[in-house]
Amino acid sequence: MVTGGTDSGRGQWSSKMGFILAAAGSAIGLGNIWRFPYVTGQNGGAAFLVLYLACVAVLGVPVMIAELTIGRFSRRNPVGAFKMIRPGSPWKLIGYAGVATGICILSYYSVLAGYTTGYIVKTLIGNTTAYEAFTSNVWIVLPLFLVFIVFTVLVVQGGIKNGIERWAKILMPILLLLLVALIIRSVTLEGAGRGLSFYLKPDFSKVTGKTILAALGQAFFSLSLGMGAMLTYGSYLAKKDNIVTSGLYVAFFDTLIAVMAGLLIFPALFAMGMQPDQGTGLVFKVLPMIFASIPGGHLIGAAFFLLLSIAALTSTISLLEVATAYMVDEKHWLRKRAVWVMALICFALGLPSILSQGIVPWLEKLPLVGMSFLGLMDYIFGNVMLAIGALMISIFFGWLWKVKNAAAELREGCPGFGRIAPVLDIMLKFVCPALILVVLVFLFIDVA
Ligand code: TRP
Repeated sequence: MVTGGTDSGRGQWSSKMGFILAAAGSAIGLGNIWRFPYVTGQNGGAAFLVLYLACVAVLGVPVMIAELTIGRFSRRNPVGAFKMIRPGSPWKLIGYAGVATGICILSYYSVLAGYTTGYIVKTLIGNTTAYEAFTSNVWIVLPLFLVFIVFTVLVVQGGIKNGIERWAKILMPILLLLLVALIIRSVTLEGAGRGLSFYLKPDFSKVTGKTILAALGQAFFSLSLGMGAMLTYGSYLAKKDNIVTSGLYVAFFDTLIAVMAGLLIFPALFAMGMQPDQGTGLVFKVLPMIFASIPGGHLIGAAFFLLLSIAALTSTISLLEVATAYMVDEKHWLRKRAVWVMALICFALGLPSILSQGIVPWLEKLPLVGMSFLGLMDYIFGNVMLAIGALMISIFFGWLWKVKNAAAELREGCPGFGRIAPVLDIMLKFVCPALILVVLVFLFIDVA
């Protein structure tokens, strides 16, 4: 039997609350406020919401617990963790795939995060340039993208407690309050009712295999699962903390914010007579209209985009942290060097994404696939790769490491684990792998 890793020289969260906020900070980001509304809009609204909630509960929570446990037990990055639990086996490939997926997600995520930062100033000064005109101005979006990556680098360079945790603690609660206030405005707009019924009255006749994959991918993306981010965050978790309740809190807050983002966007969208299926630009088009309908809206709007930028930052931090932890633990690089090299790769990879938003026409609508480069990156890495990663993690946990071997780790900080062990066992052995596999198989049949 393998024993757990040691803490020597590794950072650690200062408290359970610190961990929950940092992990919730990773989970809550553009995934909730940018990605969730546009994917929901493209997939018919309420029926998608129901599927998404089901995916979070049935697949997200067990995979979250699995990742946190593997991380805390091994005290390693994703590659090191699989190497330690199954030495000499190909399972470490899940770790490599995770590191690569993280960098790829970070590359286009930072593009969107750059837009968000730009919208702070745009909203504040009352600039009314259309979204498309904004994204196609390379001299504006490129520096924003660069600045955002540099910010991420500076925080990650600071390490665990002083860098990541301190930020998340103050800012996440403010974002929540501002959301509540804006939702009240949105649902009281004239004509908001149709948006509420689009978002809350399910019509399952429109559900297809693609809808289910989108819901599943969105659940993993939003919870930061399937590429080792939660595994890495779990590796900094103290033994006295409760993995199960921590994981549940994170999943709950993340889902709450996504559901709230929908309540903010859809009523306003229908009130303004816009179409829900416009794709990646959706929230950047709808939000300014909400702010325009409020007295002093440019200040509130600027504050909102500022908080959203910070929420995005607490997410990009976790994406960069995975690759950094890998280079530091396995290749013995200095943290500083690891962070800058990874950021450079990410910048290079992000260039085609940024150019695909109205700057270089063929990147905007790629031959054969018919979507933009950014859209394709999001589809491959933000959807398919995370689903594959989550599939592998549940198989690894359920069948190889086994819940009974992980139980000792889980019981630390959670003495009552024995009672839920059989449920976790069934979920990770059968339910998660079977469901994810079926969805992926349908996807490949569909593509072929
Ligand atoms: N979950 C974040 C969001 O919703 C994005 C994110 C951060 C992420 N780390 C991740 C997505 C790891 C997938 C995997 O914005």
